[in-house]
Parts: sequence; structure tokens; C-alpha cells
Amino acid sequence: MRILVIGRGGREHAIVWALKKSPKVEKIFCSPGNAGIAGLAENVDIGEMEFARLVGFAKEQSIDLVVVGPDDPLAAGIVDEFEAASIPVYGPRKNAAEIEGSKIFMKNLLRKYDIPTAKYETFTDYESAKAYLAQQPVPIVIKADGLAAGKGVTVCFTREEADKALEETMVSKSFGAAGDKVVIEEFLEGQEMSILAFVDGNTVRAMSPAQDHKQVFDNDKGPNTGGMGTYSPLPHIDQAIIEDAIENIVKPTARAMVSEGRPFRGVLFAGLMITKDGPKTIEFNARFGDPETQVVLPRLETDLLDIFLASIDGTLADIDMRWSDEAAVCVVLASGGYPGSYPKGFPIDGLDSVNVPGALVFHAGTALKDGRVVTNGGRVLGVVGRGAGIAEARVNAYAAAAGITFEGKQNRTDIAAKALV
Ligand code: AMP
Ligand code: GLY
Repeated sequence: MRILVIGRGGREHAIVWALKKSPKVEKIFCSPGNAGIAGLAENVDIGEMEFARLVGFAKEQSIDLVVVGPDDPLAAGIVDEFEAASIPVYGPRKNAAEIEGSKIFMKNLLRKYDIPTAKYETFTDYESAKAYLAQQPVPIVIKADGLAAGKGVTVCFTREEADKALEETMVSKSFGAAGDKVVIEEFLEGQEMSILAFVDGNTVRAMSPAQDHKQVFDNDKGPNTGGMGTYSPLPHIDQAIIEDAIENIVKPTARAMVSEGRPFRGVLFAGLMITKDGPKTIEFNARFGDPETQVVLPRLETDLLDIFLASIDGTLADIDMRWSDEAAVCVVLASGGYPGSYPKGFPIDGLDSVNVPGALVFHAGTALKDGRVVTNGGRVLGVVGRGAGIAEARVNAYAAAAGITFEGKQNRTDIAAKALV
């Protein structure tokens, strides 16, 4: 099969890497890809949002399957475009991707179907939002309704922070039109957990869970990022809690989407907080997580292409899904300054001399310049270590990460530490 993967991050590198293992794959293209993906696939210089050009390319190259990585093209209906051109595509249609594209849609869906989530109210008018906010206890969480490149959520610990966040979201429009509407939401306390599931409309097949580290600095300090590191599985979390989340959150949500006439086909990703009252939903994403994918797919023993094809055919229930007992830990190496502004274009050293057994280096923000790999984004690389358990995988990830250098390199030193206490 000839495959086109759309995206340019570490997630897409991991997807391409996993697909490449399938004996059914003849060739993979990636639009636009990055310097690491270029070693496994042919990069095509078309942006994720250039739908007409992407459809044209897929026709011209007789592509058998398109796989969409990022949220923006999904929310804008890229799957519907490929379907209209009769090109098989893996990912949710626009009406199903709305579960990520609009937090208000998601929250109202969960309320209607009585699925556990933080208490909330939604607002389109600043004055009403402000009046409501004044009545609420802190901490409190303010969320722009729409997609805001992983930003758009402010956890506010003081009343001043809350007032400022609301003003910035609704009046100064820090997140653009995403902030025309807001959700003001109860603060949930506990540990976070990501459950990603393959869904074919009716059948939900949960992947092994992962945990992300959102804040830029050790001990969860500093501003939120796209994710500074992940690990899987979660040995310190009770299997009963994981089952509870799958049975009472992920499966009912997929069923709700069918009832709403918006069957979800693709990866449904639940961001959860394990509270003292059980798991509650923080968010739903309509795609693989980044960097969750970098630790989950290396543990998948089943052919990923078979899973994608079965999801499109509606036969996901028949797939024999197997997971490795090995653990995986991903440490993100980021540009100095990220998640704020940062310089790009620094040469990366040590990529070819990683000699830790089982280690994988997924590129996120990299490019080729004059034959050298250079930094080209906030999150530059995701270095994955594998091992018999989290402790061993973690040692391997940090050993591999230490050998890779570039100017301004920063990474957290406590990825997966929570699993070891
Ligand atoms: P999101 O972009 O929705 O994933 O939110 C970013 C991060 O903000 C989450 O990973 C949580 O760490 C935090 N967060 C979001 N909503 C809540 C909530 N209701 N209570 C506590 N933390 C939250
Ligand atoms: N790592 C969180 C996300 O992909 O949204």
C-alpha cells in the first residue's frame, strides 16, 4: 500500500515508524514531514491545511490510505475532503472532530450523557462571565472554546490570575477567535492520565495508558507546553481505575457520538484527572497525542496498518491487539525559551551516535539545512528509552538524550519520576 501521512511532528514520526514495520506498506509519503521522517518516508512540501493540493497529490500518486496526525486539519474537515474524493482516510470527520475543536460542544455532550467531567459554565459575553467568575472559588480553570495550538487553558490559583486570564481570553483575544466563547471550569485535583483509544464508530479499543508532563520545568513548574515527556504503562495506577475510565468515560463518549449522528472514527484521546471521586474528563482530543504516541506505539505489537484499515471498515472488534510488557519513556529535548519564543536553526550533534539498546529518537521540530539536521521548532526531539520496567526505560531515555546536543537545549529531568515513588 502507498500511504500519505499528514503532519510534521514527533507524533507523525512515530506513526510513520510504526507503519513502516508493516509488510503491507510499499511506500510512505509525509506532508510536510521533518528531517527525521525523511529517513523513513518521502517528504512532500505541502502544508497540513492545503486540502486541495493534498487531495490532488493523493490522486496523482494513487495513495491507498491517508493518515491525518494534527488537530487543525481534522477540525477543518480534511477527512470529509478525502472521502469526497473517494480516497480512504483514517481520522474523524469534521462533525466528530468537534469533540476537540469546541470545548463547549464536548462539555455539553458529557453533561447530556452524564459522563464524569469537571463542573462548568459556558459564556459568550464577557460581563456575564466576569460576574460568574466572581462567585466561584479559586483555583479555577478558564478555557478558550476553540483550538489554540495547545494553549488556551489557564489554571488560575488566585482571583487576580483568574480575572486576568478571562480578560486576556475574551477581550484582548490572546488566543484569537478561539476565545470568543469560554468555559469556566471547576479545578480538579489529582494525577493526570491519558487514555487513547482506536474507535471505528461503535467499537472502542483502548490503548495502553500514558502520562504526559505538561509544564516546562521539573516538579510541574512553569507554563504549560505541548508536552515535555511521557511514559507508558502506568504501573503505579490501579488497573481498576484505568478500567473505570475506559468503561465509564471513553466508551460512553463514543456511544454518545453515535447517538448524536457523529460517529467517531479515529483515535479518541481522553485527558483525565484521577480525582478522589474517580477519573474525570479534562479534555477530549480527536487524534493521537504528542508525545503520548511516541511511547504508546513502540509498545504496540499489532500491525498499526491493520488497525487503521479495520477502523475504516468497521471491523475493529476483530483485531487481536497486543501490547509489549516493556515500558517506554520519552524525554522531549526543547529549544531554549520554549514555550515562549526561541531561536531556530542550530545544528544538532550526536544523532548518529546514540548507542543505547532499544532507544528511539523521534524528530519533532527539525529540518535539514546544507545536509545537516538543525532545530526548527519548540519541541525538537523526543528521545525514547525502553526497558523491562519504567526505571530501566527511564535510565535508557536519559542516557540516549545526554548524547544529543544543540545550543539552548532544555529538558525536564524528572520524566516518569512519579511512577517510581
Ligand atoms: P488542556 O489543554 O485542556 O489539556 O489543558 C491543559 C492542562 O491544564 C491539562 O493537562 C491540565 O494539567 C490542566 N487542566 C485543564 N483543566 C483542568 C481542570 N479542570 N482542573 C485542573 N487542571 C486542569
Ligand atoms: N500531549 C497532549 C496532546 O497531544 O494534546
